Order: sequence, then C-alpha cells, then structure tokens
Amino acid sequence: MLKQALEFLDVRPGRHYIDATAGAGGHLKAILSASNCPDKIIGLDRDPAALSRLTGELGDGVQLVHSNYSEIEHVLPQLGISTIDGGILADLGVSSMQIDDPNRGFSFLNDGPLDMRMDTTAGWTAEQLINSSSEQELANIIYKYGEERESRKIARAIVAARPLQTTGELAELVGRCVRKNRKGPARFRDTSHPATRTFQAIRIAVNDELGSLEKFLRSALKLLMPGARLVVITFHSLEDRLVKQIFREAASNCVCPPRLPVCTCNHKSELLIMTRKPAIPDDQEVLANPRSRSAKLRAGEKTA
Ligand SMILES: C[S@@+](CC[C@H](N)C(=O)[O-])C[C@H]1O[C@@H](n2cnc3c(N)ncnc32)[C@H](O)[C@@H]1O
Repeated sequence: MLKQALEFLDVRPGRHYIDATAGAGGHLKAILSASNCPDKIIGLDRDPAALSRLTGELGDGVQLVHSNYSEIEHVLPQLGISTIDGGILADLGVSSMQIDDPNRGFSFLNDGPLDMRMDTTAGWTAEQLINSSSEQELANIIYKYGEERESRKIARAIVAARPLQTTGELAELVGRCVRKNRKGPARFRDTSHPATRTFQAIRIAVNDELGSLEKFLRSALKLLMPGARLVVITFHSLEDRLVKQIFREAASNCVCPPRLPVCTCNHKSELLIMTRKPAIPDDQEVLANPRSRSAKLRAGEKTA
C-alpha cells in the first residue's frame, strides 16, 4: 500500500520521518525521494539481515538502526531526536524476504529449522517454544494468536510428537489435526493451508508481536508533534483491532469505563483519525501481490 501510505504521511521536505519497519526499503525509498532530505529519514528494523542488505543498497545518508520499534522512545534520543515533526510509518508483520527464506522458519511450504525470530540475535526460537511449553500454554497460544478452533487438538498432537525440529514436521502434524471446509460454494471454502493459523500464532508468540505493537503505538503518540502523522499497515485482525483501539483512545476526550456516571480521567484527545474505516489495497495491487489482500491501513494526525 505504498501510494496510500505516502498520501497519508504527506511527506514534506525538511521534516523528520521514521520508517519503523524498513524491511526491503520500498516505503523508505519512497519517503526518501519525496522528502529529498536523507539526514532527516530514519529506518528501524529488528531483523539484522534486512538492515545489512538495505545499508548496502542505500549507502550513507539515511540512518538505519537495528531495533525493535517498541524501543523507539529510547532509540531516537540516542540519535539526538526528541520529537518527530513529519511522521512515523509502520508496515507490520514479516517481509517476503523473511517468508521466502526457508532457513528463517516462517514458511510451512518450505522445510527449514523452526526459528521464526525476526531478530535472529535475540530471544527464543519457535523450536524452543514448541518443545518446552506445556500443552495448555501451546493450546492458549494457538487459540489466542491464531484464532484456531482446533487449538487443543493441535497442542495435544505437538506434545505427543515432541521434539519437533522443522517447519515441515509442524506443518504435517497440524495438517493431520485440522479439517478444512473445502466443500460447497467457492466463497464458503477455506482455501488457506491448514497450518496457516498455527504458524501465525507461534510467530506472534515468538516475537511478542502484540506486546511490541502496543508499546510502539503509545511511544509513537508521545513522540509526534502536532501536525505529524502516524500511519500503520496491519496484516491480521489481532493487529488491526489493537491499532483501532489505541487510535480511538488517543482520539477520545474520555477513556473512563462506560459504567462510571461522570468522567474522572481528564483524558484529552490528541489524535485526529484520518481513516474512519481502514484503507485497503485495490484489486490491481492484490492481483500483483496476493500477500497484500489482508492489509489494512489506519492513519492519524497528532493534534496536541
Ligand atoms: C512487511 S515488512 C516491511 C516492508 C517494508 N515496508 C518495505 O517496503 O520493504 C515488515 C518488516 O518489519 C520488521 N518488523 C516486524 N516487527 C518489528 C518490530 N517489532 N520492530 C522492528 N521491526 C519489525 C520485520 O523484520 C520486517 O522486515
């Protein structure tokens, strides 16, 4: 959603812009060419491989920082930046580079080690999580982050088959537990791979994706100056729900629980929501890049 992201960011030369998920640099390069001020553009990514590839491509000028975007409030001051007058973009999830590399362990289509860490320098791998969590913990992860109805059955099968070491083993095992509805009219048929939800769940847990996202959104709202923009592109409903909720809170003049008869929170609105409904990719983009079909973009302008 490059064009729409750029429109919502409204890039102006001379202002600071942060691409919190630099990845392969598509958005970053577009921001750069609209701003024409490389020293005001900063790219973050928690994947060191993505950053070193991008450093080779961009050379000096744009600052690229290896960091989880949840740490943005600490990272920017280290670069001498305390507020952002332009905007912050986050294009969440995994990149095609990460999915397509079997060694990263994100794909159920290619066999590889069960890793799934976006930051390969830190944290637990999927293999460690899968082989050491209890059956109940696994069922909770698969249900909560994958919204998978067969979570208990899958967790039971994983525990019985442990130790698991490869994505192929996990995908095959999940395939035996999940029956997909492949009958009836085309629009009711589930054509996704049976392991899609389980892989998504394990990936979210390994990378603490929702925890990082919440911390990032709250920090970004503090860093933005009035008039600056926050643009977030999500790829599944759990992320989108969190972005929607935090945007709503930030745009509201009261965040008291609904049962309170009078407002006691003294909350003041600090965000103008620019997308009443999330923007979505057009048919042309989905045709050219099928992975974009679940993308949703929400944007807001800081007002206070
Ligand atoms: C969908 S890709 C971004 C693609 C990028 N916008 C482009 O145009 O090439 C998502 C990127 O965000 C990074 N990422 C995901 N979660 C992150 C986090 N918590 N902190 C920093 N980077 C993160 C991933 O490593 C990946 O490179």
